[in-house]
Amino acid sequence: MQYINRRAIVIFLLLPLLLFLSIAISSCTNENGASESKRTDGSKESLLIGFSQVNHANPWRIAETNDIKKEAQRRGYKLILTDAESSSVKQVEDVDYLISQKVDYIVLAPIEYEPLRPAILSAMRAGVPLILIDRMADGIPGEEFLTFIGSDFFEEGVRIAQWLVVKLHGKARIVELRGRAGSSPATDRALGFRSVINNYPDMEIVISRWANFERLEGQKVMEDIILSIGRDFDAVYAHNDEMAIGAIQALKAVGMRPGEDVILVSIDGEKDALRSIIAGELGASVECNPRFAVEVFEVIEKHQRGEAIPPVIINEDRLFDIENAMEFIGDAF
Ligand code: AHR
Repeated sequence: MQYINRRAIVIFLLLPLLLFLSIAISSCTNENGASESKRTDGSKESLLIGFSQVNHANPWRIAETNDIKKEAQRRGYKLILTDAESSSVKQVEDVDYLISQKVDYIVLAPIEYEPLRPAILSAMRAGVPLILIDRMADGIPGEEFLTFIGSDFFEEGVRIAQWLVVKLHGKARIVELRGRAGSSPATDRALGFRSVINNYPDMEIVISRWANFERLEGQKVMEDIILSIGRDFDAVYAHNDEMAIGAIQALKAVGMRPGEDVILVSIDGEKDALRSIIAGELGASVECNPRFAVEVFEVIEKHQRGEAIPPVIINEDRLFDIENAMEFIGDAF
């Protein structure tokens, strides 16, 4: 009896301390400052996500980053964003930095295919689940990283080539402005396009130059092409809208009429491209949707619940031309 009474007094005295400790354990702050509340099933309410971006040099990249930021905030996740400034060497370091910050997941938009292999290996070694978005890198989806979410770049090249074949009745001398050398969209958009035009003996790529997915480079490279081959071409295939818009400036500067003397086609479906379609200067643009965030966070949440994740998730993209550009311009980035 005496023993029971003594125990009751000890419990009574310790109760406030126990209460304080249980609150402190269930709601703590990790070393990154991210607050983590452990649920009874062991999952965290607030995860720290690292996002490694290519650059912020065009509307597509800015739209992609803003989408991730907005959705992370909406769902209450902490986000660390890195910008590789178009350098694969820096991007590998960025991924190491994110690992050092003890992020729970890394979302990586790889600049180039092969040079980003070390980033995949670093994430694997550190045991940080990695999600590739937009561009592919050298690794096995579902094994060496969680999943790849993106567009089918080969198919984009196929669709825009088919549009051009119809528009120019299977006969064209084509200038190609390629994206970033060594990146999966530049490789696959070139292959997809060729897989179609190779069936048409009168469709020919007369010159193909790198312009790095950027507007100013597109303009500069187009100026150089006009200087070197003159005006003897009917079409321009640019691997993205920014380069096509740059090329339009270069054509106009020498008095060529985009949409009449030269038919331009490209990829992305950005707002300026849709404006240009409506103005009759750009012929068509196949969409490459930069808004990955909902898919990304759904993958993370599925992974948290221990559910299966498809190794590859392909976005459905539209094709914009004069038939529908007006209808979709409001939603474009
Ligand atoms: O990887 C997707 C491509 O990269 C987009 O087409 C382009 O605009 C971006 O820079």
